[in-house]
Amino acid sequence: MKDYDYSFIPADAYTDADRDAITGLWLSVWPDHSREYYGEKMARTAEISGELPAGYPVFRVKDAAVAAALIFPREIRTPRGSLTLMALSGVCVRSDLRGQGLGAGVVRKAFSFVGQGLYRVSLFQTSYRVAPFYESLGCRRVDNPFINSLTPDKADPEALRRSVFWDDVVMIYPAGFDWPAGQIDLCGPAY
Ligand SMILES: CC(C)(COP(=O)(O)OP(=O)(O)OC[C@H]1O[C@@H](n2cnc3c(N)ncnc32)[C@H](O)[C@@H]1OP(=O)(O)O)[C@@H](O)C(=O)NCCC(=O)NCCS
Repeated sequence: MKDYDYSFIPADAYTDADRDAITGLWLSVWPDHSREYYGEKMARTAEISGELPAGYPVFRVKDAAVAAALIFPREIRTPRGSLTLMALSGVCVRSDLRGQGLGAGVVRKAFSFVGQGLYRVSLFQTSYRVAPFYESLGCRRVDNPFINSLTPDKADPEALRRSVFWDDVVMIYPAGFDWPAGQIDLCGPAY
């Protein structure tokens, strides 16, 4: 990891160069969306207010982001009441640099906000293929039914698809967290 510069970029304090670096990496990994789509996602995240950390753990080589993630607070409703958790998304490593610890590095940086006690738990979705990667970092799968009571526009198929988790597996960190059973209201779109 010594070859890479690490920084945590606050969600509301990124430069144009930061935005281009992060959206460029996401676009290279998930090319189905446009640069504008990712730029808008970053702009929306910048509007999330609150005192909890929100932003982008990023490893770079020169100006290029080579590993990144996004974290932000989300208040959900569980059968035991409200819970503010650390949402995690956009975890990725540039394809030519995988398998050398950058993915684990960026996820550990994200989870360090839980380790420091700033967040109690992190919740995220992933694929069957990548779930073992997260398990090796101290996460576990959960099997609650998820809803989003704030589904924005039922006439918009993309908004509906993204309303609740669309990937195969939902996971929490840390594995030992006393996670509630039963239906969870994400109180906002999945991520
Ligand atoms: C998943 C991803 C972030 C992993 O990053 P990486 O830098 O290649 O992973 P690391 O080198 O840090 O690997 C850490 C450990 O996880 C393991 N691992 C990595 N990818 C894995 C996978 N897909 N399945 C199972 N284990 C995996 C590694 O073998 C390594 O184990 P070890 O410490 O015992 O050697 C990267 O492959 C990626 O960007 N994939 C495409 C985007 C994606 O799917 N992101 C996840 C969205 S939830």
